[in-house]
Amino acid sequence: MSQEVQSMFDSIAGRYDCANDLLSFGIHRLWRRAAIRRAGISTGQTVVDLCSGTGDLAFAAARAVGPGGTVIGIDFVHRMLVLADRKRNASSFTRGVYFCQGDALQLPVPSNFADVVTVSFGIRNVDDPVAGVREMLRVVRPGGTIMVLEFGQPQAFGFGQAYHLYSRYVMPIVGKIVTGNRHAYEYLPETSRRFPAGDAFVSLCRDAGCIHVQDIPLLSGVAHIYLGRKPA
Ligand SMILES: C[S@@+](CC[C@H](N)C(=O)[O-])C[C@H]1O[C@@H](n2cnc3c(N)ncnc32)[C@H](O)[C@@H]1O
Repeated sequence: MSQEVQSMFDSIAGRYDCANDLLSFGIHRLWRRAAIRRAGISTGQTVVDLCSGTGDLAFAAARAVGPGGTVIGIDFVHRMLVLADRKRNASSFTRGVYFCQGDALQLPVPSNFADVVTVSFGIRNVDDPVAGVREMLRVVRPGGTIMVLEFGQPQAFGFGQAYHLYSRYVMPIVGKIVTGNRHAYEYLPETSRRFPAGDAFVSLCRDAGCIHVQDIPLLSGVAHIYLGRKPA
């Protein structure tokens, strides 16, 4: 399974950012900023961002930690990291940002290493999300925060149905035009529909060992910010 996911992301890496902007009408940028703010990341901290892709959340975290902090972005697709590196070299907010290749279920980082561990739109692609959250908890220090930004299923009458039609029929067409890979943009909304969002993910985080778990729905539940802490 993860081999398939890896080659799918490898095939769309070059056009991934463009597809994100078009399909979310740019809203994903606001969500990332809100997620970093809610995670309470502050200057000088160390952040690990898994499933980092082309690095947008890692760069948002880098602004929050400032020049004295460190952000490590980890992804298992090399081509995504090459693009993230390119962005890093073109930006001024990138001191202390590093990217490395690795699996979210076996992060190449010591235990209790980070103040905050983040993931955006990645946990639903991991084979075992409970194991993914456990691995985040291994890497964060006692008392530290984990933050997950992930798609959900909006329930509001009318909007929920409209979003369902959009993700089922419009996304694959736009994804095919932008990236050439229709299957990827059928797979991605399908994994969002199947993902245990809201209360189900809150329970999953608790089962994995998180305390003080919070769920902050965005845009009627199209996405959610989940926050949790590792016991001190
Ligand atoms: C939908 S993209 C999200 C990228 C980025 N976090 C963002 O917000 O745009 C999912 C990313 O997760 C990565 N990924 C999926 N499963 C992974 C795993 N088991 N280990 C590491 N990276 C993984 C993919 O390569 C891809 O770059």
